[in-house]
Amino acid sequence: MEIRNYDFAGKKAIVRVDFNVPIQDGKITDDTRIRGAVPTLKLILEKGGALIIMSHMGKPKGKVKPELSLGQIREAVAAALGVPEVKFAPDCAHADAEVAALKPGEVLLLENLRYYPEEEGKPVGIDKEDPAYEAAKKEMKEKQKEFAKKLASYADCYVMDAFGTAHRKHASTAVIADYFADDDKMLGLLMEKEVSAVDNVLSNIKRPFVAIMGGSKVSTKIGIIENLLGKVDRLILCGGMTYTFVKAHGGEIGSSIVELDKLDVALGVEELAKKNGVELVLCTDSVVTNGLDFGTMSVKEGAEIKVTPSNAIPEGFEGVDAGPESRKRFAAAIKGAKTILWNGPAGVFECDAFAEGSKAIGQAVAEATAEGAFSLIGGGDSVACVNKFGLVDKVSYISTGGGALLEAIEGKVLPGVAAIRK
Ligand code: 3PG
Repeated sequence: MEIRNYDFAGKKAIVRVDFNVPIQDGKITDDTRIRGAVPTLKLILEKGGALIIMSHMGKPKGKVKPELSLGQIREAVAAALGVPEVKFAPDCAHADAEVAALKPGEVLLLENLRYYPEEEGKPVGIDKEDPAYEAAKKEMKEKQKEFAKKLASYADCYVMDAFGTAHRKHASTAVIADYFADDDKMLGLLMEKEVSAVDNVLSNIKRPFVAIMGGSKVSTKIGIIENLLGKVDRLILCGGMTYTFVKAHGGEIGSSIVELDKLDVALGVEELAKKNGVELVLCTDSVVTNGLDFGTMSVKEGAEIKVTPSNAIPEGFEGVDAGPESRKRFAAAIKGAKTILWNGPAGVFECDAFAEGSKAIGQAVAEATAEGAFSLIGGGDSVACVNKFGLVDKVSYISTGGGALLEAIEGKVLPGVAAIRK
């Protein structure tokens, strides 16, 4: 079913959103995901429906953790929707009374779905090596179906709008769809936008296509890096993963982050790039320090900060940002691009002293966008960079997905999409 054609009047709609937003001292520090879901939620209310909103927050692993309660975002959701009140069901699996009392135009938020292990459908407290694991897994899958059926029983129709969690085959993102007729389940407007942004990058490529992949580990991004090497003209690899590449060539990286068991993976990436004629742009000089406090994201008193070649970092120092030469090379590689994908920062951007690499990338992406490029930014950290440098309106599309975006761009079918578009 197409959401714009659905008659929500007098119906209860259960909507899976991704309200897994960062919270510090009780305050939401980035509400991109809440704002992203607003068009779908408002559409349902405007069409006379009642809203049952469900989401996860964090990874409580089947336990009740008050610091991960969705109750703390009730007011923010009410403000975003422009409604006087968002009602709250403190137990998502026993919300019958709250659901029964819900009237058209009203909004009910269910408590964190992941307080129940059935949401993820993975057995808890049993090791994968345990001989009883398979039986426990089977049993949990049955419980997951029951949980999904319970959630489905609250509503007349189901809307999947949680792009950020669409790569998970969970009770609320996929299994629940089995309990609704085809005419009563649909993707939300955010899902439609996200899927079409990915299509723009995968099927409607205007060249040159430049991808920028940052972050600390090459291992978590190898799938997408290999996939992109079959598509892009230039690939910038930056951030902590730099030092795995440098180490693979025998460079001195001091105490920089490195994956010693992935040196062959790094060399394989370089080989594939060469074979495919992709220009690989790596960080060749680094801002290094001997005193970054990761807890407070600040530089310790008396610590030294300097620039060195990325392959000659002294003992006791670690690479924390791209150096000035690398920044220039990154900007030059982005200039003139017509399709851009950016995921992952170039350094420890949370600390102002080490944000210059990510800032240079953000500015170059914004300039290329002004000259006609389509730029897609995804992943919590890159989105935080775009926010921090005031570039939100200067890029084409900011995705609410991290892992989901990467899997979609890898070409994988997302379970949350497949559940609706069988
Ligand atoms: C995210 O933050 O990427 C999504 O909310 C999914 O969360 P998860 O990785 O815990 O499934």
